[in-house]
Amino acid sequence: MAGFFSGKNMKLPKLYALNKKLKIDLSLSENPLGCSPSVFRVLRKNINLITEYPDPYATKLISSFSKRFKVSEKQILLGNGSESLIDLVCRVLLNPEDEVVLPELTFPLFEKAILLNKGKPVFIKMKEDFQIDLQALKNRASKNTKLIIVCNPNNPTGKSLKPVMLLDFIKSVKPIPVLVDEANIEFGGKSIIRTVKRNINLLVLRTFSKAYGLAGLRIGFLAGPNNLITRLKQFSQPFPLNSFVEQAAITALEDQDFLEKTKNFMTEEREFLTSELRKRNFTVFESEANNLLVKVNSIFSSATRFVQFLNKNEVSVVNGKSFRGLGDSFIRISPRRRKTNRLFLKTIDKILSNMDNGGTYD
Ligand SMILES: Cc1ncc(COP(=O)(O)O)c(C=O)c1O
Repeated sequence: MAGFFSGKNMKLPKLYALNKKLKIDLSLSENPLGCSPSVFRVLRKNINLITEYPDPYATKLISSFSKRFKVSEKQILLGNGSESLIDLVCRVLLNPEDEVVLPELTFPLFEKAILLNKGKPVFIKMKEDFQIDLQALKNRASKNTKLIIVCNPNNPTGKSLKPVMLLDFIKSVKPIPVLVDEANIEFGGKSIIRTVKRNINLLVLRTFSKAYGLAGLRIGFLAGPNNLITRLKQFSQPFPLNSFVEQAAITALEDQDFLEKTKNFMTEEREFLTSELRKRNFTVFESEANNLLVKVNSIFSSATRFVQFLNKNEVSVVNGKSFRGLGDSFIRISPRRRKTNRLFLKTIDKILSNMDNGGTYD
């Protein structure tokens, strides 16, 4: 049976866009500011916990999530990173050949999880501006559809959907479960997590890997209606999180100043890169989050060629070919600190000036 690490064009590096990480790295969307400093203190203090089994119910963390996100404790399920919960949802909700409707351009792991669990992905084309076409998703849903997945803000576009539109859509496809992946919601857009109380078919997925800056600790959670969460719990691991991270997650959650700082930082760097790249004749699509989808300057024959040159100059970005439905003229970048962003732009200037002088890329 195929696993997460196998399959043509579906190797792990592609799924997570884990391309070559070079000195000037704009490929991965980890938080460039790191994490809340208080998390380090808590981890050091709790190091002795590694000898003990964790609380299987993660009682303190669940209570903390419940208060922060205004969701009842019974409506929360923890996971070892949100990717484990994407797999769990597919595993529990899908029988062989069941259809899952999802936008064509999105986080590639969804497709892998659907296929791995013998479901059938049904891809819906994006709108012209690469926004998710909710109407088209709804039109395609049928009695064979057992799940709909929407990533908000979407990866790799950084575009978010208005809560009213998303909520209308969720109601309109009832009772088909809709998984809304809010992995990057702290950067932009508005969460609908509080509405799980009144939407019987809504599952909201969150992670601590992005704005909280804790990708290495593997903390994700799902909020949803009691019956669905109870069903999913029966198939989840007895100890989804290790004893070490529970307090760290609580601490990260309490440091809302760090999240605010992260959001402001990202907005500034995203705007800086957008305007600088546009000056260089790159098309940058409007984003509200931590990813920028960029169409490379038409002077380059392909994104692949452009990426090769960047790589030679120790710059890494994600080639748009990692994503379904994008041709070979796009890249995805995740803004970093200003110094790195400037080095990235400087490299592009070097390439462009070489070309102006009749030289080759390299
Ligand atoms: C949209 C989206 N969802 C989920 C994930 C998985 O995150 P993790 O498993 O680290 O929680 C990612 C990671 O890149 C992502 O971009």
